[in-house]
Amino acid sequence: MLFLHFIGFFPSPFGFLYVILHPEMKTINTIKELQTVLSGARADGKTIGLVPTMGALHAGHASLVRRSVAENDITVVSIFLNPTQFNDPRDLERYPRTMESDCALLTECGAQIAFAPSVAEMYPEPDNRRFSYPPTDAVMEGAMRPGHFNGVCQIVSKLFSIVEPDRAYFGEKDFQQIAVIRCMVADLGFKLEIVPCPVIREADGLAMSSRNTLLAPNERAIAPLIYAALFSSLDFAHMHSVAQTREYVEARINGVQGLHVEYFSIVDANTLAEVEDWTDAADIVGCITVYCGQKPIRLIDHIHY
Ligand code: PAF
Repeated sequence: MLFLHFIGFFPSPFGFLYVILHPEMKTINTIKELQTVLSGARADGKTIGLVPTMGALHAGHASLVRRSVAENDITVVSIFLNPTQFNDPRDLERYPRTMESDCALLTECGAQIAFAPSVAEMYPEPDNRRFSYPPTDAVMEGAMRPGHFNGVCQIVSKLFSIVEPDRAYFGEKDFQQIAVIRCMVADLGFKLEIVPCPVIREADGLAMSSRNTLLAPNERAIAPLIYAALFSSLDFAHMHSVAQTREYVEARINGVQGLHVEYFSIVDANTLAEVEDWTDAADIVGCITVYCGQKPIRLIDHIHY
């Protein structure tokens, strides 16, 4: 009954009473209020799902929220643009902010709570904690964006401590992020289930990302070539070595004016250690980051071989 509104009306000329059960999403800005609401729900035996986001929500986020709504009694979606995970201030500055449409999407998906705290609420004091999980957080994104995963661990651990969810949902698009968060969960002993959710793609194959809205039309037109190159490398890999496959993907993407590969690493999906041979691991994944356009916008994607 927590957030249910009952609206009764008599539609003329029939005179029947219609009672519409309308679940309403609540927006909460403080940790104290959130914890008060959640402790009541927990005392009633309700399960809690958490979907951490930085806002600018799209269909990829919607799929996480819908999954959480299906698997938990209460779904909390955090909307917090976490400054400590941005190593480039320009990236933080231009990150899209779309609070109104975010709330509309969450209501549509059936989330019960949007938790949208201020920076002062989440960081009343600087967070000096340091997280280090080599090699998982040291390679690929960890090497290119120093401090990024430390910031992710700071905010995600805070959210886990505040919300105490039974399950937390993360998109597999950020493949390495999930691996790092798993290390942090094991390290700090959080009792919750991490639920990885599949990448959601646009019709042309581009992985959905909040950053896609920053692409100019000509950049948006070439961005799908990233996944096209990854996808075609699946066939190529059958008859070629790991090194040749890496070269193939890099050459295809770098051959497009406006795209530039920052790294393409073919790694063991569990350890994130680079592989040299297709027999080196049971689950092998190719992780890529590409700069697109003039600004440029940094796009990430991956494929399982
Ligand atoms: O994946 C993201 O959007 C962010 O890294 C996360 C997990 C919400 C932490 O700020």
